[in-house]
Amino acid sequence: MAPRSRPRPREGETSTSPSRRATAARAWERLSAEIRACRKCPLGATRIQAVVYRGGWAPRVLFVGEAPGAEEDRVGRPFVGRSGRTLDRAIEQLGLTSEEVGVVNVLKCRPPGNRFDRAAARTCRPYLDRQVALLRPEVIVTLGARALAAIDPDAPAMLVAAGHPRIGPGIPHFPLLHPAAALRSNRWRARWEHDVRTLARWLARGPS
Ligand code: URA
Repeated sequence: MAPRSRPRPREGETSTSPSRRATAARAWERLSAEIRACRKCPLGATRIQAVVYRGGWAPRVLFVGEAPGAEEDRVGRPFVGRSGRTLDRAIEQLGLTSEEVGVVNVLKCRPPGNRFDRAAARTCRPYLDRQVALLRPEVIVTLGARALAAIDPDAPAMLVAAGHPRIGPGIPHFPLLHPAAALRSNRWRARWEHDVRTLARWLARGPS
């Protein structure tokens, strides 16, 4: 699915020219078509469809999840099931519009039994890198341990990293627990909500 709005000018650019926008839109369409047709790993044979993206063209914040579940596989959009509703509530709390966010997964296809497939994640990795390069978010928010490991292999364990911004040479990022954790118990819900409030304050300050 194509993102809905046009790329905004980036730092150091005075405008985003129509030809630049057209080139970016073509590159995005090419990449999305490649992902949808991909059969590079066994998940291509068991999925209903690849799940590419939802969100705006120039998201301020890119949420990176782990892998599509059954609902996402059926609908073709990331985070449309129960975890997606928790994520959407958090996005609202952060005061971000649907144009200001993007949502992707490390794995583009649902793994059977929802068991994360590390070999497939290695094969899929260039797609995530190309999505990030085209979307150029200001901030990445990882959702869960697998997404954190993909974006920041040197990060400490999930429960230590969650709720603390990580600034390195690349795009600043902020690890959150996976939203499914918030559905598991009151304790995890409290931790999720606490970390989302910390993320809101960090975004309001201007991530650095
Ligand atoms: N969990 C994820 O990590 N991604 C989805 O798209 C849905 C559930």
